[in-house]
Parts: sequence; structure tokens; C-alpha cells
Amino acid sequence: MQALVLVGGEGTRLRPLTLTRPKPALPLVDRPFIRYMVDWLGRHGVSEVVMACGFRAEDLRASLGDSIPGGPTIRYVEEREPLGTAGPIRLAADEGLLGERFLVLNGDVLTDLDLTAHMRAHEERGAVASLALYPVEDPTSYGLVRRRDDGEVLGFLEKPDPSEIDTDEVNAGAYVLERSVVDLIPPGRMVSIEREIFPKLVGNGLYGLRLDGYWMDIGTPERYLQASWDILERRVQTEVADRVGESGLGIDEHADVDPSAALEGAVLVDSGAVVGANAKVGPRAVIARDAEVGEGAVVEESVLHPGCTIGEGATVRGAILGSGAEIGEGATVVPGAVVGEEARIEAGVVLEPDARVEPGGVAA
Ligand code: GDD
Ligand code: MG
Repeated sequence: MQALVLVGGEGTRLRPLTLTRPKPALPLVDRPFIRYMVDWLGRHGVSEVVMACGFRAEDLRASLGDSIPGGPTIRYVEEREPLGTAGPIRLAADEGLLGERFLVLNGDVLTDLDLTAHMRAHEERGAVASLALYPVEDPTSYGLVRRRDDGEVLGFLEKPDPSEIDTDEVNAGAYVLERSVVDLIPPGRMVSIEREIFPKLVGNGLYGLRLDGYWMDIGTPERYLQASWDILERRVQTEVADRVGESGLGIDEHADVDPSAALEGAVLVDSGAVVGANAKVGPRAVIARDAEVGEGAVVEESVLHPGCTIGEGATVRGAILGSGAEIGEGATVVPGAVVGEEARIEAGVVLEPDARVEPGGVAA
């Protein structure tokens, strides 16, 4: 089976992290975010993945490569202009990359939904297009899907008005499509599959299947952090499970954790990372490769990307720190902060809540 993954969004809500690398290449726990999706596809028998990149395909390729050992091969298609959520399907098909039946995935979700059941239902129903459905509390920021009990879709409403909501099932961004859908997509321009294509398919072979499991859009700092804890605490099936114990604690054999440091709850200390004397890490934290937590520092509910350094006695709570960021001695990073790559917070500085520090920037 082939899969096309839509990864062209700009990831604006995860700035400043996405100013220096595309969202799919951002580290999530211990690997590039998009790797979870490729592993998930591989577990469901996908052998070829096409990454539909709006921009910076090379950056993504640098972090993901051209194949996963024992998993799918990966190709990259770059658009000259953004083509929306359907245009890239047309482009890839015109370039000869897609066969008679294929999967299309929104590339910004972390999920373990049962794709095998999804493909089986598509086949059994003789569908032209099948949507994975997932229940959410507030469908307004999603595509609302109305369906009959047998799965036939009765209506597709992208970003519905609160007054239009009469079901909790939304489009989870995982489609099985027959080749004939490609003919409905006009070439060479931006086309939204949700607004232009699915409405046309209602009554013409469009089906939906509600799937159980884990599903989360990681596009905001709060959800990015929650997804990190869900991975460590194994609420979602991922390959990271092999690296952590029951409580979600994982210390790489090449990490250096001082015996007097206190590690609590779901915490990963990755290869080359250092945790100094009397430091307190957790509940919930990711100390990525080669990051350093100084003596007596506190890191709680926070993610440190590779190579960050936290000075002695500094406090970091509820924050995401981009690769190579430096927090000075005794500085305080408060919840909601997102610090860009290689940025520096000087000693003793107290950041404002929800602060954003530009890549390479200095907070003094
Ligand atoms: N290649 C490419 N080119 N990809 C794009 C483009 C583009 O021009 N525009 C968006 N994408 C990618 C995004 O990177 C993302 O992975 C996916 O297409 C969906 O776009 P979003 O901008 O994230 O849409 P959304 O989250 O508001 O809504 C979509 O996802 C919901 C589920 O999370 C819709 O499909 C909804 O119906 C759905 O419920
Ligand atoms: Mg999205």
C-alpha cells in the first residue's frame, strides 16, 4: 500500500520552533515528529510513503532520510506554490507516484488508529473514498462528518458553525482513496479536499468509519507537551515504549545522571544528556540528547531539545526549549514559554508567562 502524507503547513502556532525547522522535523520526545507517522504506517503494511512538502523538502529529508530500516521507502514532492490539501494528490499522481488505491494522511497528528480496519472497511463497502472518524468535544476546528449507521456520509462540513453541530464525529485526516478521486482535482492550483472534493463525493461513494485509539493534533505548544507525556506514559502506541519503564521513566545507558538528582514520573534522559547533583527533573520531562541540567536546577513538565543547557539553580516549568538553547544560572522559565533554537536566557532573568524567544535571541 502507498500513502501520501500532507506536510506542507507552516506550523505557525509552534513558532518560534518552526522558524528554524519544519514542523514534521521537530523533535518529539526522541525522534522527528513525522517518524511516528511513518512507523504507524509501516505497522499497517504501508511500503511506500510520499511526503507532500509545501516547502523545505530538503530539511525534512535531512531528518527522515529515504527509507526506514525494515519499514517504508520515502519520497519527497515539493510544491512550487502551496496546493492545499488536494492539489498535492493531483501533483503526485501526475508525477506517476500513485497507484489505483492509496492512503492520504494529514501530517500533523500523532495517532495509533487502526488503519488496517479502515482499509478493510473501504474494501468491503466498495467505497470510492473512506474517512477515518474520531469523536471530539468541540468539532468547530475540524471537519464535521454526518453519516448513516452503515457509514455512508451524508454531509461534510469543514469548520462548522456551533449551530451546525449535531454529531461529535470529525474527519481524523486519514483517507483511503480510489484513483478516480484524482480526476476530480483540478491541476495546477490550490484545492482543498475538505471544501471542494469531499462535498462532491457525498452520495457518490464517500464513507466514514469511526476508529478507536489515540489521536491528537500536535500543532500548539500545549498539545505538543501533552503528546510528549502521552508517548512516555504510553497512552499512544509508539516505538518509544521500548525505552521507558512502567512509570514512563527512561534513562539512556549513555546518559549521566548524578545519584543525588531526583527524577520523578514520566521522564526521558537521552543519550549524552547530563543531570547534575541535586537537580530535580519531573514530574514529566524530556531531556534530549546531549542536553545538560545543572546542579540544583529544576525542570518540570518541560521538554528540552538536543543540546540545551540549564544553568545551576535555574527553574524551567511548562516550557519547550529549542535545540541548543541556554538558560543561565538561577534564571526562571515559566509555563507556556517557547524558546527558539540557540536562544539564550541570561543568568537570573525571569521570563514572562507564555514568552516567545526568537531563535538565536537573547533575553537579558
Ligand atoms: N503539501 C501541502 N500543501 N500540505 C498542506 C498544505 C499545502 O498547501 N496546506 C495544508 N497542508 C497540510 C498540513 O501540513 C496538515 O498536515 C494537513 O495538510 C491539514 O492541514 P491543516 O491546516 O492542519 O488543517 P486543519 O487542521 O485546520 O484541518 C484538517 O485536519 C483536521 C484534523 O486535524 C482538515 O482535514 C479537517 O477536516 C480535519 O478534521
Ligand atoms: Mg491540522
